[in-house]
Amino acid sequence: MDAQEQAFRDAYRDRDEPSTAARRVVRASTEVSGPFENAPDTDPAVADSRAWARDVVARDVPVPAGAVTVSTTDEVDAVVARAAAALPVWATTSPADRARALRAIAVALEDARSDLVATMVHETGKTVAEADPEVSEAVDFARYYADRAAELADGVVPGAVHRPAGLTVVTPPWNFPVAIPVGSVLASLAAGSPVLVKPAPQAPRCGQVAMAAVQRGLDQVGAPADVLTVVLSPEGEVGRRLVTHPEVARVILTGSIETAQLFTGWRPDLNVLAETSGKNALIITPSADVDLAVADLVRSAFGHAGQKCSAASLAILVGSAGRSDRLRRQLADAVASLRVGPATDLGTSVGPLTEPASGKLLRALTTLDPGESWLVAPRQLDDEGRLWTPGVKHGVAPGSWFHTTECFGPVLGIMRVETLDEAIDLQNAVPFGLTGGLHSLDEAEIDHWLSRVEVGNAYVNRHITGAIVQRQPFGGWKASTVGPGAKAGGPHYVAQIGDWQDAPDVP
Ligand code: SER
Repeated sequence: MDAQEQAFRDAYRDRDEPSTAARRVVRASTEVSGPFENAPDTDPAVADSRAWARDVVARDVPVPAGAVTVSTTDEVDAVVARAAAALPVWATTSPADRARALRAIAVALEDARSDLVATMVHETGKTVAEADPEVSEAVDFARYYADRAAELADGVVPGAVHRPAGLTVVTPPWNFPVAIPVGSVLASLAAGSPVLVKPAPQAPRCGQVAMAAVQRGLDQVGAPADVLTVVLSPEGEVGRRLVTHPEVARVILTGSIETAQLFTGWRPDLNVLAETSGKNALIITPSADVDLAVADLVRSAFGHAGQKCSAASLAILVGSAGRSDRLRRQLADAVASLRVGPATDLGTSVGPLTEPASGKLLRALTTLDPGESWLVAPRQLDDEGRLWTPGVKHGVAPGSWFHTTECFGPVLGIMRVETLDEAIDLQNAVPFGLTGGLHSLDEAEIDHWLSRVEVGNAYVNRHITGAIVQRQPFGGWKASTVGPGAKAGGPHYVAQIGDWQDAPDVP
């Protein structure tokens, strides 16, 4: 551990108040078995949550004003020029004042919770139980990055001063359409950079409702005009002009590896921070608590219908954990018990896909490769191809298509090996390195796994999705990341946006 890491640890040691997300988990835990409908009525807190959730899914949230639609590259140049005019003012606004803006934004986001959840449910098919903690994550980003902004003035890097680098363009994904754009935008604002954000074409309303809340926070503290610009545009030349614009100093992308390659193909020297794809495995050894392992596996694989870069796509069973019927039987029962349906139905545990299954996902849902068979066969429940019951295939072969390909949906593959080292070899034998898990109650196994696993986020005896700001900063390794690599929600994320220059000598 270097001196800087030690300094961060010391600074955070006493900050042990629960984050917003942790508090929300306490509430959600009463609703585990069928998020809002199946819990008993006698607990007033549960009845209260259920009434709130009903109100939320019935909401018709208007599209906020303020986004700019651009259709030509000249229009892109005009919005970039306006944002660039905000740079000198925002870059010289003190870190303490930028922190104040982020704290106002945290309050505005919390106030917008119901609208944000409703928009996610209606636009993306995310359930209330998945969307609600996502708002908490956005609020946590605002509070945490406010503290990181305030620190910039104190010389995070000894002997160096932070200089805002210029404009940032944020291109967020559709699967976390609130937390990820909010986190990326606020990190940039914290670092003194005006931002242009282009919400994902599959979830533009979520982006607009979230950014309207961010703008309310900025207005409240009198931030300069055009420090935040929401850009809507069709894909293609316009997006390319925005990302490669000479006045844009940095791009923050969360999306597939193909999109990252497209961006860097457009401009090889692009200054990009990217979180990309994953092919994530959870290893279960014979010493694991099987009940816990199965619950965590199901949650990791099928939360938000598996549409998370962090999702578990492979279960690697070691020794007797794979030979005995018990784990597979429990897994099959648990998967069969999931209720698939519209996200507006509060009893739904797996909602619809945001887009109809196609490409790799459709192949994974409909095709078995040599050696594979269905433990639980997926079924398509609608004509459109958005509603699928989750599938579990066993017999996935080392090096096969399913072993190494990200499919981004409700399909889990099972692999079996004899030793923990063989399991780790399979876990590491993919180009990506985003999340990974181990279920084991043997400390020697845990230490060994931690020493070998090649992922950014390694989880022991826990589900492998749902990183919590400050507690589990999120970011990848290997092909899952591009750029300096400091993790989102971690101590260095804000500090990496901008330049560090030698501190001037003080006479
Ligand atoms: N942060 C999310 C998770 O941990 C993925 O983007 O699941």
